Amino acid sequence: MKSLALNSYAKLNLYLQVLNKRKDNYHNLKTVFERIGLCDRIFLKSRPDKKITLSCAGGFKIPKGRSNLVYRAARLLQENHGVSKGAHIRIVKRIPPAAGLGGGSSNAATTLIGLNKLWGLNLNRDRLISLAKKIGSDVPFFIYDIRFAFGRGRGDKLSPLPELNALRLWHVLAVPKIRVSTPFIYGKWDQNNKNFGLTRQGPDVRIFLQRLRRAKPLLSGDIMFNGLEGPSIKAYPAIGRLKEEFTRLGLKAILMSGSGPAVFALVSSKKEAGLMAARLKRMKKPWRVFVTGTV
Ligand code: C5P
Repeated sequence: MKSLALNSYAKLNLYLQVLNKRKDNYHNLKTVFERIGLCDRIFLKSRPDKKITLSCAGGFKIPKGRSNLVYRAARLLQENHGVSKGAHIRIVKRIPPAAGLGGGSSNAATTLIGLNKLWGLNLNRDRLISLAKKIGSDVPFFIYDIRFAFGRGRGDKLSPLPELNALRLWHVLAVPKIRVSTPFIYGKWDQNNKNFGLTRQGPDVRIFLQRLRRAKPLLSGDIMFNGLEGPSIKAYPAIGRLKEEFTRLGLKAILMSGSGPAVFALVSSKKEAGLMAARLKRMKKPWRVFVTGTV
């Protein structure tokens, strides 16, 4: 095999509860991931030398060297499995970077899956997952070929939720044109929570999952929760203003994804998502708007 083209999907966190800060400076959390149709395209081409080269199209600037998670994924595979070949990796970006949508993590996971095939390594899923964990907390989710999963630990210990395989949610999604640093937001969470001790905020994830299995009652929004929303909105008021616009449109189940700034709403159909997206676009504000759903 000489080349390969793959979709690299984004994620939303439908629920995200931060539990505590760990000794390794990560945070334990409970989260529910949803894979959505918004995706980048990744083209992999084998190289006879050991070089890993990157190119990017699609209007977003992303790093080309070691700080790109895709580059790290390729090098990790090469170094751990004695690969003598290299690769050229072309990314066509549609997922806004540093937005809480897992774009970089997804690209890294897709690269692991793709190069495993392209280089004929035959690594099993468990091996790919252990490499994925070294790249980032959100990377393992994208190794599983699953629509919904429950994440614990730093978000990397996953339980796939196959009972939700028939569930298709629709969303209107808007991403302010700002880049949010995840460590910065976790730092803000620490400052806000140092006096709380272990008081848990937000509804219980078990209740959330019960409601998700019944899909529709989620539309009221009262059960959706993201513990990073408070710190993110405080640091970036544009996120709060975007949520207010969603509310003014009559949307109810509104949440920020990850550490933001992406904000989404759960709606009852693709048609409703399209209507809401058209209204948001007409406001001509500095945000990107998408209609997307579970894939
Ligand atoms: O795992 P990843 O490299 O994506 O995380 C980026 C940063 O976000 C970490 O260095 C850490 O500061 C923060 N983080 C965290 N707890 C998590 C996930 C990320 O504190 N569960």
